[in-house]
Amino acid sequence: MKTFEYIISEKKINCTFDVPSDFITSNFNKEKSVIITDDKVFSFHQHKFVGFKVITISNGERFKTQTTIDNVIKQLLEWKISKEDTIIGVGGGVVTDIAGFVANIYKRGINLVLFPTTILGMVDAALGGKNGINVGLYKNMVGTVYQPAIIAFDFAFLASLPDVEWVNGFAEIIKHACIQDEILFSVLEKSSILEYKNNPKLIAALIENNVSLKMNFVIKDEFDRKERKFLNFGHTLGHALENLYQLPHGHAVSIGMVAAARLSEKINIQTESISERIVRLLKLYELPVDMEFNYKEVFELMQLDKKREGDYLNFVLLNKIGEAFTQPLEMGIIEEYLKEMHS
Ligand SMILES: NC(=O)c1ccc[n+]([C@@H]2O[C@H](COP(=O)([O-])OP(=O)(O)OC[C@H]3O[C@@H](n4cnc5c(N)ncnc54)[C@H](O)[C@@H]3O)[C@@H](O)[C@H]2O)c1
Repeated sequence: MKTFEYIISEKKINCTFDVPSDFITSNFNKEKSVIITDDKVFSFHQHKFVGFKVITISNGERFKTQTTIDNVIKQLLEWKISKEDTIIGVGGGVVTDIAGFVANIYKRGINLVLFPTTILGMVDAALGGKNGINVGLYKNMVGTVYQPAIIAFDFAFLASLPDVEWVNGFAEIIKHACIQDEILFSVLEKSSILEYKNNPKLIAALIENNVSLKMNFVIKDEFDRKERKFLNFGHTLGHALENLYQLPHGHAVSIGMVAAARLSEKINIQTESISERIVRLLKLYELPVDMEFNYKEVFELMQLDKKREGDYLNFVLLNKIGEAFTQPLEMGIIEEYLKEMHS
């Protein structure tokens, strides 16, 4: 077991790797903790929660709503959970987003510990304190930034993770390589999902590397004002596609990254072609790189993106692989580009 300590807004956050399977039962007080998980994670891993109060939400993005938050809070009140108690979120990004939001608003903030159980959760969703729920088609429109005290990595969770979720998680790993780390990009080019799945040490090292990559963005810019925005690479179009067509998050981000890479080439004088290399890598990790979509509907949704400022949308683009920048693009230019993608 090893722990890396990060300080964000004077709060200490421990990322603890290689925790043993009994970490929850042997480290947390059953009387003073509540586990929030989903039904799927519960069905595979309930032996880790024996003796604890457990709130089990239905799995899936469509349950990341205010109704779920209300139900969780009602249960906490029924159990008379106090401000000194701890919420332990165990699950993928949906569960960690719900657990984080509830922990922040319940009695104006109670202790939070997260155990991400998907690749996407481990390299992205559980890190950085952002949480949120969807409002109709609008993703993560309501939420807060609230840091957990501990993010614990129990790689044994990955044994039950379906293939489609492995693929999803690699979209965010490839995103990290695109915006920040050309060496990581080259390493990924020489490997495959199967190789990582079959080699626990390799996947653990890859996750650890990606955690440090993301946490370094968060330390510099907790509230998304500068560098942290780079983490939105591929997400502007991605979120719109994800919501309109119910795509898995990683698939949507993958298509969004290809579009952003091509847009980077279009509006920048590029010395090298980045998009073809990105397309090859995404395909190697079994991710989609394009899809048919109704550009008018997509554009309408993109107009409500959180990164919009007046007539402009702050788009994350690449100078080259491993180097991102943001550029405000006029909404009209974005509409034209979407139209062109499908002409
Ligand atoms: N807060 C953030 O900074 C942030 C960043 C990225 C993504 N997100 C959010 O994360 C969500 C996506 O996360 P996700 O891909 O982990 O989705 P998810 O939580 O929906 O999990 C995907 C599926 O895998 C199942 N699952 C989870 N762990 C499992 C395990 N170990 N074994 C078997 N099945 C398991 C879940 O029950 C679910 O059916 C989205 O809502 C997205 O908005 C948040």
